[in-house]
Amino acid sequence: MSKKYFIHTFGCQMNVHDSEKIAGMFSASGYNVAEGAKDADVIVLNTCSIRQKAEQKFYSELGRMKLLKRINPMLKIAVAGCIAQQKGYPLIRKFPYVDFIFGPGNLDSLRKWIDDGIPRKVPPRGGRSIEHGTLTTALKHDPAHETEEFPVKREGQVRAWVSIMFGCNNFCSYCIVPYTRGREISRPSSGILSEIKDLCDRGYKEVTLLGQNVNSYRNDIDFTELLRRIDSTGINRVRFVTSHPRDFSLELINAIADLPGVCEHVHLPIQSASDRILDLMNRRYSYKDYIEKINMLREKVPDIAVTADVIVGFPGENEEDHLLTINAIKEIGFDSLFAFKFSPRQGTKAYDMDDDVPEEVKSERLNNLLRMQDEITLTKNLTLEGTVQEILIEGHSGKDLNMLTGRTRTNKIVTIPDANEPEGTLVNVKIRKARQHSLEAVKV
Ligand code: 5AD
Ligand code: SF4
Repeated sequence: MSKKYFIHTFGCQMNVHDSEKIAGMFSASGYNVAEGAKDADVIVLNTCSIRQKAEQKFYSELGRMKLLKRINPMLKIAVAGCIAQQKGYPLIRKFPYVDFIFGPGNLDSLRKWIDDGIPRKVPPRGGRSIEHGTLTTALKHDPAHETEEFPVKREGQVRAWVSIMFGCNNFCSYCIVPYTRGREISRPSSGILSEIKDLCDRGYKEVTLLGQNVNSYRNDIDFTELLRRIDSTGINRVRFVTSHPRDFSLELINAIADLPGVCEHVHLPIQSASDRILDLMNRRYSYKDYIEKINMLREKVPDIAVTADVIVGFPGENEEDHLLTINAIKEIGFDSLFAFKFSPRQGTKAYDMDDDVPEEVKSERLNNLLRMQDEITLTKNLTLEGTVQEILIEGHSGKDLNMLTGRTRTNKIVTIPDANEPEGTLVNVKIRKARQHSLEAVKV
């Protein structure tokens, strides 16, 4: 009977896609996916350290793993992702039931670990790395990682993630990513294009290009040229995350306007609208720069949806700074917003700043902001009632087999009651009812 693996993924799309690559490696080595952690022979926890909350979730899951290992001593446990990279071997020392630790730039080492028959761990003093025989940690960024083609086992059959770049050079003062995912490296365009052509041939309709800062993509070609070439593969929909306002150029805006496959949605994290805080965050743009780009974008692509991330309670943020952000949210009118309380991350610049906004004030600012955004989102959704939208059908909604779900090009979730269309179909629908988090529609 073949062995079984189970992957628990925490965090962002990058991790979700890394887990698809990890699943691909297990699958290529003859493993089957387990129904749950309890049935697995090997478990991978793919971790996130962006905020403390994400880290806590991982540690409580790791506690559960100890119990599983007590029941099944043959169970192997690997820790991947950003916490693995940041904590390294001490994690094994602290949690001796962990067998293997590998970073986001070392996915390939998993292949070796599996192919070696998942060796029994020999816990040496100070740890052993891939260079020293028995594999317990693989954390030294492997430069081959960027060009490596992985046997991806994708979660869906309609929409696919495609990595175009790795790491980040921006060093926003609050962010752990440049330390866990390393320096920015763009993947050569040939590999990206052949991956997307292959996805098209296999019936995929949408790709989302992934990178920490996709618009600074530059290898043999730049990002707008990459978009042009991807568009000409014939894939129906192209999305990309995440963009940095500083690198969001006029050429990119023109490409979004011109290329039929590129969807009318950008995720452009603003973080704050106070120039003083933006400076402390090392974002390298002002609120004026930001809004000018949004205005230009809306002028060229009138129906564009804009979403963003905001951090509240950054060190030194006072009421006045918060009000600037609140007013900006009103002025811009985002389609939706992801808002977070500042969480100090060890090793970053902001960790050494005085985390002087009390927790209650952070919560209050977060609530203010989310309350205001809820109103804006609903108002925006209501303007869509009666309009016709193209929807990519993603499948049935939960248990209701007569209810389809899909997304507009602007990335809004749409439900269609009493309808039946195969997954992956593009259909035109009329929006009948707008809700806070979704739209209800009928086929036209
Ligand atoms: N605290 C709070 N939010 C953070 N983000 C990144 N680092 C932190 C942190 N230390 C948020 C930013 C980023 C999103 C992915 O997570 O808003 O855009
Ligand atoms: Fe972090 Fe800033 Fe890079 Fe985004 S752009 S990953 S927030 S350092």
